[in-house]
Amino acid sequence: MDDWEHLKAVAAGAQARAHAPYSGFQVGAALECRDGTVVEGANVENASYGLTICAERSALAAAVTGGRREFQRIVIHTSADGPVAPCGACRQMLCEFAPDLEILSVYDGGEAHWVLSELLPHPFRAGGLGRGALPSES
Ligand code: THU
Repeated sequence: MDDWEHLKAVAAGAQARAHAPYSGFQVGAALECRDGTVVEGANVENASYGLTICAERSALAAAVTGGRREFQRIVIHTSADGPVAPCGACRQMLCEFAPDLEILSVYDGGEAHWVLSELLPHPFRAGGLGRGALPSES
């Protein structure tokens, strides 16, 4: 699947269901798996602010729970004035499974595109750089 329209629509739908009463900043994500499945995620905040989970990690956790570990693309959907790139924690989590993930950030009035390896060129890996992301790849 080459066009991004379906992923954008799924991410927009997830954004509308985000639970963000504290920041007021709703984020939706649509994570495309290698088999074509699209898994959605939204940020879920909490009265104990630090427990918040971002939309990207929410989608990733759902996908892995569903038995999927290979990912091609993710769309992040917000109503911000400019592009929102995944936070550092989400970059690291996504990198575990998809270091070359394509990322499209859709915001109010435009979009931006990156590859995860551009945003996180030196991810943490147990054992040091040069090893695979997963223990079995070392
Ligand atoms: N947030 C995401 O969902 N994804 C990001 O990449 C950055 C931030 C959420 C977390 C919090 O609920 C709100 O945006 C404001 O930081």
